[in-house]
Amino acid sequence: MLEPRPVADQTWLLPFSIPIPGLGVLPGNAFVIRSREPVLVDTGIAALREDFLAALPQVIDPAELRWIYITHMDLDHVGNLAVVLERAPRARVVTTFVGMAKMGLLGLPQERAHLVNPGQALDVGDRRLHVLRPPTFDAPETTGFFDERSRALFSADSFGAVQPELADDAQQIDPSALREGMHLWSSIDAPWLALADRARLGAALDRVRALQPDIVLSSHLQPARGMIDRLIAGVADTAGLTPFVGPDQLALEEMMGTLAEAA
Ligand SMILES: [Fe+2]
Ligand SMILES: [Fe+2]
Repeated sequence: MLEPRPVADQTWLLPFSIPIPGLGVLPGNAFVIRSREPVLVDTGIAALREDFLAALPQVIDPAELRWIYITHMDLDHVGNLAVVLERAPRARVVTTFVGMAKMGLLGLPQERAHLVNPGQALDVGDRRLHVLRPPTFDAPETTGFFDERSRALFSADSFGAVQPELADDAQQIDPSALREGMHLWSSIDAPWLALADRARLGAALDRVRALQPDIVLSSHLQPARGMIDRLIAGVADTAGLTPFVGPDQLALEEMMGTLAEAA
């Protein structure tokens, strides 16, 4: 858990996993870019705080961080933001206006926010991070970015996949299992896809394809090198997808009963 490893030019992955009972497991990823002005991308989950705080200094001294890029303010992305901000006094939180508002609601220091919008770029010294709105998302403040130097696309929740068990690399996932897992994740994370127009979703995916990323670094998929066409195909047919509906109370109690019997 949370064994950091390099995945692209000066780019490190801090992986964790999020079990989804009855459905499988969802990868969860934070990243560090050791650019001239170092960047932490998202901050993991509070439930794994000790692990996260032990893993981060293996990649970079938090005091050296200049930017904490928050793709969006979900709990699996800001779980350790408050404590990392304390350990990274020079770092600014890269987010949008809506994200800054949510920082206030979470009791986080809004004065540390640095606002960027899709279409703008963040200069981190030796590279620019081109900010974009990913094709799918679950929160209005969501942004991802394209690192022009590593040619990595940081896609936030987009291109995630629920899986039976976690491989190290997206290439190792059986293609049909990947497709199914992407559909399931999309139906959970973006129920609005039920209302989406296929052509307009396709146009958003074409804009991603035009970047020609060498590697996709989703928050919820293993690093995916040379797979952009497959990932785009996995999302292209999610327009009109039936939203996921979880178990209700009765079904939950039945599940718990089954688990208790098995124990
Ligand atoms: Fe999310
Ligand atoms: Fe997420």
